[in-house]
Amino acid sequence: MASWDPDVYALYRRYRERPALDLLTALPSDLAPREIWDLGCGLGEQAALLAARHPDARVRGLDSSPEMLERAGRLPAKVEWVLGDIAAFAPDAPVDLIFTNAALHWVDDHAALIRRLARDLAPRGVLAVQMPVVDGLGWRASLLEIAAEGRWAARLAEVEGVRAANDPADYYAWLAPLCPEIDIWTTTYLHALHGQDPIVDWTMGTTLRPYLDALPDGEKPVFLDAWRGRLARDYPRREDGVTLFPFKRMFIVARRA
Ligand SMILES: C[S@@+](CC[C@H](N)C(=O)[O-])C[C@H]1O[C@@H](n2cnc3c(N)ncnc32)[C@H](O)[C@@H]1O
Repeated sequence: MASWDPDVYALYRRYRERPALDLLTALPSDLAPREIWDLGCGLGEQAALLAARHPDARVRGLDSSPEMLERAGRLPAKVEWVLGDIAAFAPDAPVDLIFTNAALHWVDDHAALIRRLARDLAPRGVLAVQMPVVDGLGWRASLLEIAAEGRWAARLAEVEGVRAANDPADYYAWLAPLCPEIDIWTTTYLHALHGQDPIVDWTMGTTLRPYLDALPDGEKPVFLDAWRGRLARDYPRREDGVTLFPFKRMFIVARRA
């Protein structure tokens, strides 16, 4: 499992929190949850927001990274922080709200996972998901090419990076037997980033992690330089210093019968 650095992840907080807030805004207004789980809660900000919005609920934030949970635990929030793997998630009671923002793309077999999460819901419970859709984006393609072409290719061949999202229609089909209300949409955010190497900096906290973890220290800068070269060509910095970084995300809000 990839390592996580809370400080690096927090670098682009302003941009990363936007889709999370868009997902929170899309929750049904009549939802009055008693049991809430935030899966892959990271630094815990959304779990804390959910706890503030639903003060009578039992809110738990689950994450596989002790570093992220340690940081989350510093928030003044009525949330229980749980170390665990989403792939093995088995709640002790039916859940009224399963919220998971920017985490499921690290978990395999969405066909089984999404069906299981829908079954974990209480009657009228809601599953709310946001995840990146990186396939087809140029920066993602060049990262995979560099990983597959360089002298590190054999070492990186087994790296499990961000999983490709399935087609939105697949998620609909998996949820439809249990959830009569399903809302699925995608959005591409055009982030206007500043700095010398903003795409590398952004992905350093997430997408790049498993690749860097697999490389010896001496190889990391060479690998990064190779990717920087491709990024400079494909995403040139504008005269005003801005690098435009397109990022597509899929949203799912499904409500159980
Ligand atoms: C991109 S961060 C998102 C954090 C938070 N949900 C947010 O929106 O800011 C992904 C989080 O998922 C966690 N994660 C990745 N794979 C996981 C797994 N299999 N089980 C539990 N947590 C996982 C990581 O540790 C990380 O904190």
